[in-house]
Amino acid sequence: MATTQSTSRGNWNSKLGFILAAAGSAVGLGNIWRYPTVMAENGGAAFLLIYALLVFIVGYPVMVAELSVGRKSERNPVGAFRALSNSKFFPIVGFWCVLCGIVILSYYVIVAGWTIGYFFEQIFHYSGWTEMAAWVANTDNGWLNAGVAIIFMAFTVGIILGGVSEGIERAVKYLMPLLIVILIVMIAYVLFQPGAIDGVRAYLLPDFSAINSDILLAAMGQAFFSLSLGMGALITYGSYLSKKENIPEVAGYVTLADIGIAFLAGLLIMPAIFMAQNQGVQVFGDDGSLIAGAALIFQVLPELFHNMGGVIGLVFGATFFFLLSIAALTSAISLLEVPTSYIIDEHKVRRKTAAILIGAIITVISVVIAFDTSLIGTLDFIFSDVGLPLGGFMLCLFLGYFWKMENAKLELGQGFASIDEHWFFPVWSVFIRFVCPILIGLILGRTLWALFF
Ligand code: TRP
Repeated sequence: MATTQSTSRGNWNSKLGFILAAAGSAVGLGNIWRYPTVMAENGGAAFLLIYALLVFIVGYPVMVAELSVGRKSERNPVGAFRALSNSKFFPIVGFWCVLCGIVILSYYVIVAGWTIGYFFEQIFHYSGWTEMAAWVANTDNGWLNAGVAIIFMAFTVGIILGGVSEGIERAVKYLMPLLIVILIVMIAYVLFQPGAIDGVRAYLLPDFSAINSDILLAAMGQAFFSLSLGMGALITYGSYLSKKENIPEVAGYVTLADIGIAFLAGLLIMPAIFMAQNQGVQVFGDDGSLIAGAALIFQVLPELFHNMGGVIGLVFGATFFFLLSIAALTSAISLLEVPTSYIIDEHKVRRKTAAILIGAIITVISVVIAFDTSLIGTLDFIFSDVGLPLGGFMLCLFLGYFWKMENAKLELGQGFASIDEHWFFPVWSVFIRFVCPILIGLILGRTLWALFF
C-alpha cells in the first residue's frame, strides 16, 4: 500500500482512493431518493436554499471534525471518544452512533432493494412481460421487499469482509461519473416535455413564506444524512486516512460532489413530478402533501423511462437503476463499517465474524420493515432527522470543549503545512465551538419542544 501508516487496520490506497470512498459513502440514495422526496414535500426551492446553507455552515465543518477525530484516534466512534478524553459520557454518544448506523442501514437496504426491483421492472417492461414488471414494481409486497433487501445486504457484507479499500474505490471511480452523465442527459430530455418547466420554477424560485421550523429540521437532517455525518461513518473512514492528506481539502471535494449530485437529482425529479401531474397522475394531495411518500421517485422515474420508449428507454432506465444500486451499495458499506469496526476494535472479534453478526442483526430488523414500509418514515425521523444532528451536536461539544481545539489543530496540521497562517483554522474553530452547536441546538430544540409540549 502506498500510505505510510503502520497499522494493521488497512488504509486507503491513495488520496484519490479516499476521496472516492468518502464520496461513495456520501453519494447514494440520500441524493437521489431522499433529497428529492424531502425537497418536494417541503416546498421545493425554499428547501433547496436552506439545505445548501446548512450543508456549508454545519455539514462541512462537522465533516472536517469527524475526519480529524477519526484520523487521530484510529478508532471507531466509541473507541475514538474513549481514546481522546477520559469522559465517561462520550462513549455513550459513540454507542448512539453505532445504533443509528444499525437502524438507518436496516431501512436503507429496503429502499436499495427497490432500486434492484426497478432495474428488473425496466427490463420486463421492455420485453413486454407486463405482469412480471408490475410484480417486481410492487413496493408493498413484504416477501419481495424482504428478499431483495437480503440480497442487497449480502452484497454489502461481502464487500465489508474484504476490508475497506479495493472494491469501493474501483466502483466509485468509473460508475459515479457515469451516473452524473445519465442524470444530465435525462435532465435535458425532461426539460423539453410539457409541464416540466413548472417543475423547474418550483425548484429554483424560492417562496420564502414557505420557510418554517419543519423545513429547518428536514433540511438539517437531510444535510447530515446525505453527507454521511452524525454517526461516525467519517470518524471510521478517517481512521484509515493517511497523515499526508489535507483534511479540509478532501472534505471540500466530498461536500461539493455530494451537493452537486443532489442538485442534479432535484433538477430531474421536480420537473418529472410536474410532468406526471400534467399527464393526470395525482402526485400531491389536496393539502399539498405528497401522496407517494417514500416511494416517490419509484413512481415518477420509471414512467419517464417508459415514455422515452424503445431500446433508448430501456438502456437509460436499466442503467440508471443499476447505477443507483451501486451508489447505494458504496453508501451502505460505510453504514455497516461503523458497527463492524466497533466490535472488531473494542471486542477483539475477527472482521469476518463481526461483519456477519452485525449483518444478521440488521437483516432481522429489515425483514420487519419489509412488511410495513410506513415504518421507514418514522425510523427516518427519529434516527436521521433527529439522531444524526444530535450526534453532530455532541461531536462539536466533544471537539471544542473536551478534546480541545489545540489538539485538533495539531491533527489537522498534518497534511496542511500552512495551517498557522491560513484563515481556515480560526474560522473553523468558531464554527465548531459556537456556530454549529448553537444552530443545531436551536433547530433540534425547537422540534423536540414542539413534539413534547
Ligand atoms: N450518505 C448516504 C446517502 O446519501 C447514506 C449514508 C451512508 C449515511 N453513510 C451514512 C447516512 C452515515 C448517515 C450516516 O445515501
